[in-house]
Amino acid sequence: DVTNSSFGADGENPLRIFVSAKKDINDIFVKVEKFVQNVHEFYRSYGDEFLTSKSKLQQIESSVSKIAGIRDVLSRNNMKVAFFGRTSNGKSTVINAILQNKILPAGIGHTTNCFLQVEGTDETEPYIEVEGTRRNIESVNHLANALNTESLGDSTLVKIFWPKSKCPILHDDVVLVDSPGTDVSANLDKCIDLYCLDADVFVLVSNSESTLMQTEKNLFIKVKEKLSKPNIFILNNRWDASALEPESLDLVRKQHMMRDTDFLVDELNVVAEDEAKDRVFFVSAREVLGARIEAGQGKPVTLGNYANGFEGRFKEFLDFEKKFEQCLSKTAVQTKFSQHTLEVIKMTSDMNQLLDDIFRQTMAMRNEKMNQIKALKDRVNYIKQQFHILTNEVKHQICHLVKQVEHKV
Ligand code: GTP
Ligand code: MG
Repeated sequence: DVTNSSFGADGENPLRIFVSAKKDINDIFVKVEKFVQNVHEFYRSYGDEFLTSKSKLQQIESSVSKIAGIRDVLSRNNMKVAFFGRTSNGKSTVINAILQNKILPAGIGHTTNCFLQVEGTDETEPYIEVEGTRRNIESVNHLANALNTESLGDSTLVKIFWPKSKCPILHDDVVLVDSPGTDVSANLDKCIDLYCLDADVFVLVSNSESTLMQTEKNLFIKVKEKLSKPNIFILNNRWDASALEPESLDLVRKQHMMRDTDFLVDELNVVAEDEAKDRVFFVSAREVLGARIEAGQGKPVTLGNYANGFEGRFKEFLDFEKKFEQCLSKTAVQTKFSQHTLEVIKMTSDMNQLLDDIFRQTMAMRNEKMNQIKALKDRVNYIKQQFHILTNEVKHQICHLVKQVEHKV
């Protein structure tokens, strides 16, 4: 049974894997930064004695600034999901359903006219940023008006900063990118390069009332050309429409499933046949959004407002969220942290090498000093010996002289 509590998005949270990995890696980098700074300080204070070239000091200095740079990048790292599909398929509604609130403007006709990136802010009020300029937003309607200006071309990126406290998924470092319809935007190619090549997951929001169109496919073929193995999910949205024709529901589902699987497995070659079932879902974003808004207001969800089969579609949306969050978290950890981890391993081993070199140099200097001391000792002994011989000789001569004098006397 779908209970009221399940209209939220709580339970086991795969996104936490990324969030805690990010924290752990940051902690490691703080330690490495301290270690490298210590090596730097040590090297500088003993520098003149050990340094034959300045290059090692420069190497340490560049490591210090590199680590600061990596820590900065790490702190801004997030998990990015980009949504594409034809106009009115429900891209903005899907994002709102995930955010559990009507944030992005959605409606019939061509609604989203530029790229919208939703991300979390620690501030309490939302704001937007257009080409680096910040504008405060008082309400969701205000946001719709702000976005509805002629001046925003379809290749503009508007960043929407929404309070993390109001949206759990934004709290977990997820960034969602909404796009204008694949059939109406002429600049999608350029925009994929600009805003989406670093996306960890791509979601194709398709319309289950019609069929996967070539324009939608072309876009994902382009994505595949640029990224060797993109993570792609297909959402057959508006599946509530199937409730009106229960007799053809199974058949239509099978048809979509086959077409979507062919696309992912044979045409794009991004997943194996047995994995495709975890990439294709049949949902109704409008129903999920409606139910979540009701649940968020503490009202009981009025099941009568939804078409037959609502609970199954709702569960399928939850399943989609779980699978895409797992994929997102795993990919983001691999792509965003593994390179930095390798870099830091190399850096600490270089530092160890430097310290080893210093140790060897110190030992060599110590040995050299020991040899010098020994030579000095030998010399002192020699002189002492000479002095002894000389003293005896003088004594002997004096004795001899004394005797001679006595003799004459
Ligand atoms: P553009 O921004 O114009 O590209 O469209 P979009 O893909 O963002 O679609 P949007 O989310 O604006 O939804 C278009 C219309 O379809 C809205 O009126 C939504 O309420 C409606 N809609 C979205 N999802 C569903 C759904 O699952 N079922 C039904 N019946 N309607 C939906
Ligand atoms: Mg839209």
